[in-house]
Amino acid sequence: MLSRPLSPQRAAGLPRQVTARAPAKLNLHLSVGPLRSDGFHGLTTVFQAIGLFDQVTATESQALSVAVRGEGERDVPLDGDNLAICAATALADRTGHAPAVALVISKAIPVAAGLAGGSADAAATLLACDALWGSGLDQDALLDLAAGLGSDVPFALTGGTALGRGRGEHLAPVLAAGGWHWALAVAATGLSTPEVYRELDRLREGGRVITAEPVEAVIDALRSGDPAALGPVLSNDLQAAALSLRPDLRRTLAAGADLGALGCVVSGSGPTCAFLAASADDAIRLAAELAGADVCRTVRVAGGPVPGARILPAGGPR
Ligand code: C5P
Repeated sequence: MLSRPLSPQRAAGLPRQVTARAPAKLNLHLSVGPLRSDGFHGLTTVFQAIGLFDQVTATESQALSVAVRGEGERDVPLDGDNLAICAATALADRTGHAPAVALVISKAIPVAAGLAGGSADAAATLLACDALWGSGLDQDALLDLAAGLGSDVPFALTGGTALGRGRGEHLAPVLAAGGWHWALAVAATGLSTPEVYRELDRLREGGRVITAEPVEAVIDALRSGDPAALGPVLSNDLQAAALSLRPDLRRTLAAGADLGALGCVVSGSGPTCAFLAASADDAIRLAAELAGADVCRTVRVAGGPVPGARILPAGGPR
């Protein structure tokens, strides 16, 4: 019996399809410095990866393509602005592999929400294509590619809880004793990250002093493992700018405080509001009551920290 010739992929012992997933992030602290000459702001931030994941399946193909399914699928660009496409192209450029792969993104992370969903897609794509193409890049090379794709992409690779400096790409792990429980209030429409940074510059030029709590307070509270210590020191310079662009978020934050959240903060450039709860059960209660308070489009519950981007076992649970 004649057998069909193996594809070059199979002949090289490589898989025909790889799925990777990467987590959303919260910023538990974000202090923003002045605008730099490269168009970015220097910052100090504390990231925490939370248990809300996008998945990217990369399949051997003759051409580069992307399809998006799930949460906010219609709001994700399918052209060269798509960070997964950028990631596959950057990896192909670096390795000399043809930029040919069919990407399918299954989204659970809300789009343009301040949760770094696009960065998660880029990180998952880097891992999936690296495995699919057998490039075998080490962690440093992947982190370097990630930093070129976006400020939050390196953290989506590493996960956990980390201190970020530079524009967010220089990372150092932070000890976060135990688990942390979050309820998230997701708004009906997203915010543009560059617009929020511009609004912060505008507010500051107008004389508004906007300074986050000291980062050491957040690091100490994380080390203590006590959510009652962390709640009051959560802070984000971009929150004032997000509230200036979207005053309705004040109601959302106030509702979480009234419902007993230990701390409330806009995540990243917003508009998602994150509420710290005392326990997993309390986070579920808080989310349910926020959903009933008519202050957001939808709610999520997530725990952190979780690991960064990972390849999922072939045929395993999704
Ligand atoms: O790196 P990322 O794609 O997330 O950045 C999107 C935009 O947000 C940048 O083009 C810049 O306008 C703004 N930004 C910034 N300073 C940072 C990160 C982002 O000004 N540290």
